[in-house]
Amino acid sequence: MRRIEVELGERRYPVVVGDGARRELPTVVAAAVPSASRAAVVTQEGISAIVDPGVPSERFVVPDGELAKSLSGAEALCRGFARTGLSRTDVVIAVGGGVVTDLAGFAASIYHRGTAYVNVATSLLAQVDAAIGGKTGVNLPEGKNLVGAFWQPSAVLCDTGVLATLPPREWASGRGEMAKYAFLGPPGSPPDASILGLDLADQVAACARIKAEVVSADEREGGRRMVLNYGHTLAHALEAEGFEPGRGWDLRHGEAVAIGLVFAAELAHRLGRIDGDRVALHRRVVGAFDLPTELPGGIDPERTLAFMGRDKKAHHDLTFVLDGPDGVEVVRDVGEDVVLATLADMVTAEGGER
Ligand code: GLY
Repeated sequence: MRRIEVELGERRYPVVVGDGARRELPTVVAAAVPSASRAAVVTQEGISAIVDPGVPSERFVVPDGELAKSLSGAEALCRGFARTGLSRTDVVIAVGGGVVTDLAGFAASIYHRGTAYVNVATSLLAQVDAAIGGKTGVNLPEGKNLVGAFWQPSAVLCDTGVLATLPPREWASGRGEMAKYAFLGPPGSPPDASILGLDLADQVAACARIKAEVVSADEREGGRRMVLNYGHTLAHALEAEGFEPGRGWDLRHGEAVAIGLVFAAELAHRLGRIDGDRVALHRRVVGAFDLPTELPGGIDPERTLAFMGRDKKAHHDLTFVLDGPDGVEVVRDVGEDVVLATLADMVTAEGGER
């Protein structure tokens, strides 16, 4: 097993990666939450991974899909925890992808004003990203992840053995976040897709290591942690817009991030931050992860811009994470005209008119 520490002082915790990692759960719970005499195992329909927390447990199955991530879903879990007598010294175990780890982590953060939880991540996306870092939360009808808490897990188990049954689109979604990490190495390090040559557990561990390092440096996203949103401003807009009636595209999160990475490179180029070779490198790296690099058909730049403005990270101006001479960093106050022109250029290029 590979073991990565998220260094947060007294709240430091391990991320254990490897085939069969979920079988470490009883040992991990005993070490990380020694007070636990009961566990609430939260999982989702369709997740077949079975876990043994090593203490008596109750199982809670939340509905399939992103809709499970709601305030009423968190309330239902907390009420279930209360009915089964889960105490503050016990433990919540989230077994699933990002929806489950976000929802169960949020329920744990508010149950008895904070109860320990352990993530057993069963999707590639959760293993490389969503299960690590302590951002928990639920959606509102007004937007994704608008209610939440920073509440770090006590441990994260990434069992790469359970990924064998992951549907192809879910692999693609995880690869989008993996591609993002290719650009988040130390300044000056050339982004590349060489991670793909490693065995799966080492790929996951390499990503978890970057995530752990960034979270350790900036737990509450005061600065550096924002680089984890590379590619996400457009991605969130595309995802939100895709839900609108009649839009006709269905992008998984990581697929949207992949397009967002290419867009961010084009935008950085237009702003004079990087040269054309660096844009081409973005396209090559994202393509090597077998991910889309073009906008979905039917994009209307004005509409997409409006969706970007609703991104909660935008703080009234348009904020992007962009590559530049000092590497990837947060860039505020990006003019709408530049964003529109970049989108329009990508649309035109894809239509073959340029
Ligand atoms: N839960 C995901 C994060 O903290 O980034």
